[in-house]
Amino acid sequence: MPDPTDRLALVTGAGRGIGRAVAARLAADGVVVAVHYGQDDEAARLTVKQIQDAGGRAFPLRAEFGRLSALDELWRGYDEAVAALLGTAGPAPVDILVNNAGITVPHGVRELTEADWDRLFAVNAKAPFFLVQSALSRLRDGGRIVNVTTAATRVAMPMISAYTMTKAALETFTVDLAVELGPRGITVNSVAPGFTDTDINPAMKDPAGRKAMAASSALKRVGTPGEVADVISYLASPGGRWVTGQRFEASGGVSLGL
Ligand SMILES: NC(=O)c1ccc[n+]([C@@H]2O[C@H](COP(=O)([O-])OP(=O)(O)OC[C@H]3O[C@@H](n4cnc5c(N)ncnc54)[C@H](OP(=O)(O)O)[C@@H]3O)[C@@H](O)[C@H]2O)c1
Repeated sequence: MPDPTDRLALVTGAGRGIGRAVAARLAADGVVVAVHYGQDDEAARLTVKQIQDAGGRAFPLRAEFGRLSALDELWRGYDEAVAALLGTAGPAPVDILVNNAGITVPHGVRELTEADWDRLFAVNAKAPFFLVQSALSRLRDGGRIVNVTTAATRVAMPMISAYTMTKAALETFTVDLAVELGPRGITVNSVAPGFTDTDINPAMKDPAGRKAMAASSALKRVGTPGEVADVISYLASPGGRWVTGQRFEASGGVSLGL
């Protein structure tokens, strides 16, 4: 029989990087975690194994965002995995949804193509919007939504302007959703990482690039995925119940001064 106290989280883009750390942190908090990913089966398998080795509960969930049909695949896989793990039947509930999966294209207004634009918006803005829409009936009252955006929505970074526009859209969605879902006790917040040590930013591998990124933060280093995950864990915890519609930067204070 399913335990009604089990909390379920869906973390998108949890095979690698920040999403992997969020999945591990929520699992350590006792949550059953769906480790969603797009293509990298091995990375997602490793995330799940790390969680299980630490005594947590998780399962991999593959669905490549870009077309809305991916959402049918996602929920089919989610229901099957939750049924196998917890003995539920029918559409499985969601307590915590972390919209983390994202891509970047390092081109500014001169170089960006229409195809780049369409892909950026499809993965970073359209997918979370329709994922939330498709999750509305599954989200339990008192639940949590966290949208992972970027510190770049606060400062000018012309070389990634279309990417940042996708995240600004997600921050607007955060505020709207907070009002929409507030009557159900569901909180909705944005967490905006700064320079974080993952694969998404190729300049992170270049010592000079990494040094420049570290120098731009008040704390004089780049962040770890776990430092972003800690903030998300707090918002997802009972302690975060009175916080909604807000944007939190987990960036070590990037670009604070002139
Ligand atoms: N790292 C930073 O410095 C930084 C700064 C600000 C904001 N962020 C934001 O933080 C979030 C996580 O970034 P990260 O640095 O952890 O990135 P990452 O290491 O590149 O990992 C990205 C994750 O998203 C998944 N993903 C990418 N495209 C997908 C698609 N089309 N469909 C489904 N899944 C897809 C990947 O799955 P596969 O591995 O299977 O492809 C992977 O699990 C992103 O939204 C990013 O914009 C990151």
